[in-house]
Amino acid sequence: MSCVVTAASWSLLPSAKVVAKTLALPFVEDIDALDSGVALVVDIDCSWLQRLQAPRLGPVHVDFASADMLHRRKAGHNEPLGRAIGVKDNLCPRVFDATAGLGRDAFVMADLGCFVALSEASRPLNYLLREAVARALISSNIKVVQAANRMQVMTGDSAHHEVEGFDVIYIDPMFPERSKSAAVKKDLATIQALQSDDCDYADAESLLAWAYRQAVDRVVVKRPAKARPLSAAKPSHSIVGKTVRFDVIVKPKSAVV
Ligand SMILES: C[S@@+](CC[C@H](N)C(=O)[O-])C[C@H]1O[C@@H](n2cnc3c(N)ncnc32)[C@H](O)[C@@H]1O
Repeated sequence: MSCVVTAASWSLLPSAKVVAKTLALPFVEDIDALDSGVALVVDIDCSWLQRLQAPRLGPVHVDFASADMLHRRKAGHNEPLGRAIGVKDNLCPRVFDATAGLGRDAFVMADLGCFVALSEASRPLNYLLREAVARALISSNIKVVQAANRMQVMTGDSAHHEVEGFDVIYIDPMFPERSKSAAVKKDLATIQALQSDDCDYADAESLLAWAYRQAVDRVVVKRPAKARPLSAAKPSHSIVGKTVRFDVIVKPKSAVV
């Protein structure tokens, strides 16, 4: 069982049951005895994921107004990503993020001024993304509110969408994390645990083949800095950071590569 739904407190049991039903996931009242998979823990306004196997890592939240996300804005970590998707002066492309995950890259792109569709196949992650965008819309930080206004969460396998009205498709497939940060490792381990058997959607290569067929100007793929490109086709150019690389495939609209 990859994901169950539970409640953060007794008073939230009815809400958690509704969430479980809506997401078609099993509801479990007490997760203490479980030792595999992940729990979506429903809380009043900020639910989270809890990995269940040992070691029980800390909770994984999606929170665009968190200190982490605000640091990422200020530290300018968004610059290589912005260049990869083609942000320039007043030009802010519309981005279809086909692997939204915890929405961190999507938030950075929205914060740069881009309209971003966050497409995420995992139902628990999709739930957390929707909750996070709703919360960000009423944040006391105006920048967070403005970015949230440019974010739209979409359900299901991205490869089942026909992408219209977007300039860029962004793909960030799961790859072994090289970061030394315990928080990053925890987040990745939890997403991986979620995927172990909730994964009946297009893999990274199929997603790239699908992206090539869509009417967009460019496809951007995030890779570990030294990894081979995702497909045999050579990227038009790459933007290399310390640990990650963005492979950019520039293509004329409607071109089938
Ligand atoms: C490495 S994570 C992305 C992290 C994200 N860029 C962020 O900043 O939080 C990859 C995510 O893509 C999702 N995913 C993988 N294949 C997908 C597909 N075919 N359609 C939709 N989502 C997919 C996975 O469920 C996972 O959450």
